[in-house]
Amino acid sequence: MPDSRVTASVNICVIGSGYVGLVAAVCFAEMGHLVVCVDNNEDKVAQLQRGETPIYEAQLPELLARHRNKGVTFTTDLAAGIHPAEAVFIAVGTPQGNSGAADLSYVEAVVSQIAQVMNGYKVLVEKSTVPVYTNEWITRCMHRHGVAPEQFDVVSNPEFLREGTAVGDFLHPDRIVVGANNERSADLLRRIYAPLTEGRYYEQADALPGPCSAAEPAKLVVTSAQSAEIIKHASNAFLAMKISFINAVANLAESVDADIEDIALGMGLDARVGPRFLRAGLGYGGSCFPKDVAAFSWVAEQQGVDFRLLSEVRKINERQLDLFFEKIHSALWTLRGKKIAALGLAFKADTDDIRDSPAIALIRRLLDAGVKVTAYDPAAMAVAQRALPASESMMYAADPYAAAEDADALVILTEWKEFASLDLHRLNRALKFPILIDGRNLYSPTVMRDNGFTYVSVGRPAVYASTQGRPRRNPAE
Ligand code: UDX
Repeated sequence: MPDSRVTASVNICVIGSGYVGLVAAVCFAEMGHLVVCVDNNEDKVAQLQRGETPIYEAQLPELLARHRNKGVTFTTDLAAGIHPAEAVFIAVGTPQGNSGAADLSYVEAVVSQIAQVMNGYKVLVEKSTVPVYTNEWITRCMHRHGVAPEQFDVVSNPEFLREGTAVGDFLHPDRIVVGANNERSADLLRRIYAPLTEGRYYEQADALPGPCSAAEPAKLVVTSAQSAEIIKHASNAFLAMKISFINAVANLAESVDADIEDIALGMGLDARVGPRFLRAGLGYGGSCFPKDVAAFSWVAEQQGVDFRLLSEVRKINERQLDLFFEKIHSALWTLRGKKIAALGLAFKADTDDIRDSPAIALIRRLLDAGVKVTAYDPAAMAVAQRALPASESMMYAADPYAAAEDADALVILTEWKEFASLDLHRLNRALKFPILIDGRNLYSPTVMRDNGFTYVSVGRPAVYASTQGRPRRNPAE
């Protein structure tokens, strides 16, 4: 069986070792390419050189151990990365600027540096999420720095990976999008992804398992650079819209005593709607959806296109947090001086990322309202501790039951699996009052009522526990 790791190797440079850059670098090595990953953060590079992963991401430590100092090396020396490379993937941050537009100054800085060290034809690949026409700006920037047009091409190859499952998403993608304005550059990208699109990778004995296979390999779509740039923004905006849509329906369901979980099931069974991204709750967060909805909205505005739908998506998302805060308030009557156990800090399960996390935003509001919060998260405690105010009102616990100890109520803010299978008897005994306000709909209201809880969730009728029959706490415990 031919091993894609030796037959079709391409020299690749990845600039940036954040979520996208690091996952891409390690996965390209896993696909058999020779990768140099460049970052200007010396500490991060030293950490990676030692084989430590700076982010919490399943399967990444294993793949890094497999390829470090073989298929992938790490350096701060940009020229050393660029010189041998046929393809240079730009995966630096594109944070949200004040206007909502993506701030492309890191991209521009990197392109200027690449221009200084060019030593032959290379394909520059936009991997970061960027607005439409960024490919043209990169081209213009290279020209301004004196690089001849025949020395490079610019391709858009957006990344669709989800945090927590990033490695699997990269090696088993729903699709690979290549936005190239000529065949030469498209062909290089086809060569890079050939182990996945020809299915050779999936035949390897140690290939990471996933939905793709040699019989059903990954699909690669070639479009113009502009179309690829829009595919990325439009995909994320559409998914954010799906979440806001179901959250708006959840609010309607609540007002008529309907159940959003039944509604989502009934809607999702229609193949045209699909069941995914119909989970009502606290709303979306993370490093992509909020930023990309704003950036896409800005692009539409710049082009004079009426796309107010996107501002509605954002408004519904923001309102979702207000509504949840109001739920907590009305369940507890008054807030000042109350003690609340908060389960979840990360913006979603299986990650330690708290960027734009609804959980963090909600906890801040509780603290502002004079609540004492004790939080627990399986992965994001250390990073949250640095972001949240250090005060005696903000405490952290070693597990959900310790967080619940003597609390007036417990709130679920992140959809971690372990929060869906808590020992309800133990939880009930730990809490001062058996009140659970669930921002992720992890429990059935009937089960919660049967276990003696007052249970408030999203888009479903609240159930109220009678205090009679509640297991008494043993003061000696
Ligand atoms: C997202 C896209 O899925 C990915 O393709 C893109 O490359 C980057 O942005 P990510 O931010 O890692 O990935 O998380 P995702 O799993 O999509 O969840 C985003 C947010 O939406 C989370 O806060 C999650 O809790 C929330 N969400 C998701 C819901 O509230 N309901 C859902 O049904 C799905």
